[in-house]
Amino acid sequence: MNILIIGGGGREHALAWKMAQSPQLDRLFIAPGNAGTAEVGTNVPVGVEDFDGIRELVLREHIDLVVVGPEVPLVAGIADFFLENPDLKDVPVIGPVRAGAELEGSKDFAKTFMLENDIPTGSFRTFIDYTVSEGRDYLATLEPPYVLKADGLAAGKGVLIINDLKVAQQELASMLKGKFGKASSKVVVEEFLQGIELSVFVLTDGEGYLILPEAKDYKRIGEGDTGLNTGGMGAVSPVPFADAAFMKKVEDRIVKPTIQGLKDKGIVFKGFIFLGLMNKDDDPYVIEYNVRMGDPESEVILPRIKTDFVELMKATAEGRLSEMELDVDDRTVTTVMLVSGGYPGSYEKRKEISGLKEVRDSVLFHAGTSINGNKIVTSGGRVIAVSSYGAGMQEALKRSYASAGKIRFEGKYFRRDIGFDL
Ligand code: AMP
Ligand code: GLY
Repeated sequence: MNILIIGGGGREHALAWKMAQSPQLDRLFIAPGNAGTAEVGTNVPVGVEDFDGIRELVLREHIDLVVVGPEVPLVAGIADFFLENPDLKDVPVIGPVRAGAELEGSKDFAKTFMLENDIPTGSFRTFIDYTVSEGRDYLATLEPPYVLKADGLAAGKGVLIINDLKVAQQELASMLKGKFGKASSKVVVEEFLQGIELSVFVLTDGEGYLILPEAKDYKRIGEGDTGLNTGGMGAVSPVPFADAAFMKKVEDRIVKPTIQGLKDKGIVFKGFIFLGLMNKDDDPYVIEYNVRMGDPESEVILPRIKTDFVELMKATAEGRLSEMELDVDDRTVTTVMLVSGGYPGSYEKRKEISGLKEVRDSVLFHAGTSINGNKIVTSGGRVIAVSSYGAGMQEALKRSYASAGKIRFEGKYFRRDIGFDL
């Protein structure tokens, strides 16, 4: 079978690496991919939002199944585009239709959905420009810190957590005036949840589902979880506190009602649901939904999945997931993200990367790399995720850090405290 993966980051390299292990795979394409995906498949220079370019590629290469990595094409309706196109309608897409992608594309939709389906989450209200004064009053009824979220996609930057009431009220007004463009023309104000975060991933065909291994990611640039938010600086799976009792609560209180709620809305959701959760006194609350795998969570979860991933994708497309079982490696996997100096602010690209071949004890997932002649160079803020197995977290981390030291590029930075809070 011929498979196309849409995207070009560490998550897509991990998906490509995993699917390349399947005997069911004939040819693998990644659009646009990176220097890492080029080692396990064929990169095609087509952008994730270039639906016509993707259509041509699917027809030209006789693609049998498409797996969508990032949220942007899903929220833009790539799955609907396939269903509505006579040439493409028989090619299954793993990733929800636009209506399902609203779980990530609109925070207001997601919070309302949780309210309707009794899914535990913080209390909230949504405001638009002409209800800004009601928003100010609502903020005054809450305890600090105050959580303000742009309704739409804002490349991970649309969430503000503010300690001072006056500042929060000013920020609400500035968001509604367009601080994040159209994404913040609606703003969700929600209760702050105190606890420890984790990410749980569900693969569903709309009826059946499998809960994939959970993970914890480290979003801040600085050690001790300080400084600016990034796409993710490292991750660990499994998460020790996510024991069977906790995961049972997640399944009963969140996973089942989420899948039932989508069905009740008539949304056929085939793809990944990423639950951003807060563990508050041993009870799970949803902070956010995403409709894709996480990054860098994929770089620790996919190495732990032993089941043939192409078979899992096929079963999802064919509505056979309830017949499938997931075989999970019980070792720990950790990943440490090597990033460009300056990230998440401005940084330089095209720095030559060396030492990759010296790494023996880790799996390297490329995030922001490209090929330049016979060199591999940096092409993004997050450059390479260094993933390692271990009997426990300390052993896995020791390997990731030893390998991280072998890889060289100008300005390389990484956090040395991944897993510190576990
Ligand atoms: P989001 O983009 O919704 O994941 O928000 C980004 C980050 O802000 C989350 O990973 C949390 O660390 C934090 N956050 C968001 N909403 C809340 C909340 N209601 N309570 C506490 N922290 C939150
Ligand atoms: N690591 C968080 C995300 O993928 O959104």
